[in-house]
Amino acid sequence: MSKVKHTELSEQGKERIAWVSEHMPVLRGIGEWFEKKKPLKGLNVGMCLHVEPKTCVLALTLKKAGADVAIAGCNPLSTQDDAASALSKMGVEVFAWHGQNEQEYVENINKVIDSKPNILIDDGADVIAMLHEKRTDALPEIIGACEETTTGIHRIMAMEKDGVLTFPVMAVNEAYTKHMFDNRYGTGQSVVDGILKATNLSLAGKTATVAGYGWCGKGVASRLSGMGCNIIVTELDSIKALEAKMDGYRVMKLEKALEESDIVVTVTGNKHVIGKAHISHIKNGAILANAGHFDIEIDKQALAKESIRQRQVKEEVEIYELKNGKKVYLLSQGRLVNLAAGQGHPAEIMDMSFAVQAMSAEYLSKERDSLKPKVYPIPIEIDRAIANLKLKSMGVEIDELTNDQAQYLKSWRI
Ligand code: NAI
Repeated sequence: MSKVKHTELSEQGKERIAWVSEHMPVLRGIGEWFEKKKPLKGLNVGMCLHVEPKTCVLALTLKKAGADVAIAGCNPLSTQDDAASALSKMGVEVFAWHGQNEQEYVENINKVIDSKPNILIDDGADVIAMLHEKRTDALPEIIGACEETTTGIHRIMAMEKDGVLTFPVMAVNEAYTKHMFDNRYGTGQSVVDGILKATNLSLAGKTATVAGYGWCGKGVASRLSGMGCNIIVTELDSIKALEAKMDGYRVMKLEKALEESDIVVTVTGNKHVIGKAHISHIKNGAILANAGHFDIEIDKQALAKESIRQRQVKEEVEIYELKNGKKVYLLSQGRLVNLAAGQGHPAEIMDMSFAVQAMSAEYLSKERDSLKPKVYPIPIEIDRAIANLKLKSMGVEIDELTNDQAQYLKSWRI
């Protein structure tokens, strides 16, 4: 039995699911195909993702494939109650609401595990880690999992390295049609959306530091720059730092960047990127936001320790009054600002990421006898199929390789 809140909002949730579905043509096409072929018939799919309208479209697509689907949120603050409650009335078991506490968060993930999933769709690897640490009873039923994000892949690779991983995992994040679009354009746009929704301040003319110039950081820097911010990038990786410099941004150590930054966004997948030693360098009135998967990138405990007072000034904005007399604003408690304060990635972007999820789930089912307990890249055929569907939906045609060209590309003779 589903556990959701604000069931009175389910009609609004249905409308919002229908709206995003209109903008997810790739997933819709896959859904039509799934409906005919039922590739997941008889299987249970357990999902742990941000429960919002686009995710609901994925859950419903997997249902069309014949699966029974249960879902929990992968972040206590990112569930949108109207969508969660609507989904629970559309034949999916939902265990999620906005603002769950840590205990409820774990209980809800356990409920998904109780549904005896055969295939998991995870975002951040909390279900996968929990199954291996605390719920080994459910492991024998698992065919495999699909992992959505960079942080989750890092955790699962660590499990594989430690020799504890017991089932195959499809690295959805590593698909080109996922990270090149979702992490870059999706995070880029939705982080700007989250900051604006939380603060309603002007971005133009402000100095913004982006910590981490990976796929997400590139997008965040580019979109904040597009809004008129002067961008500083901080990095640990010399190649990425050089790339940021060549892209036209200033690159420097974080301590120095903080002295002049009005906005700081962490998006690294690493812990304590803004740590104790950095706090005294933060500019008075600076806004701190995180877009990395976990709320560990900004050391909130250190921030609290260095403060005389901490309070909520408006929804999604907390003020820390530091002992040194400066004020610092933290958005969304340091959780993914684009999902906690904003509406997450645009539907057209998630269309591709979730198409990778849906096709990878089907792949796991189809190839279950040949796959081993390890992390698998997404087959290039899946990437190409999704890119083709996306181009078609945009009315874009591309050229085809001629036989003569194909021959030429394979030859070496002068
Ligand atoms: P990535 O691996 O492409 O890039 C991360 C970058 O951060 C690397 O270049 C690394 O050198 C750098 N880095 C690590 N520690 C650092 C530090 N202390 N200071 C400065 N730079 C540092 O990863 P990607 O795909 O950009 O993802 C980053 C995080 O964002 C992950 O936690 C991922 O799960 C999450 N993510 C969030 C999304 C959202 O909607 N907010 C969407 C997709 C991913």
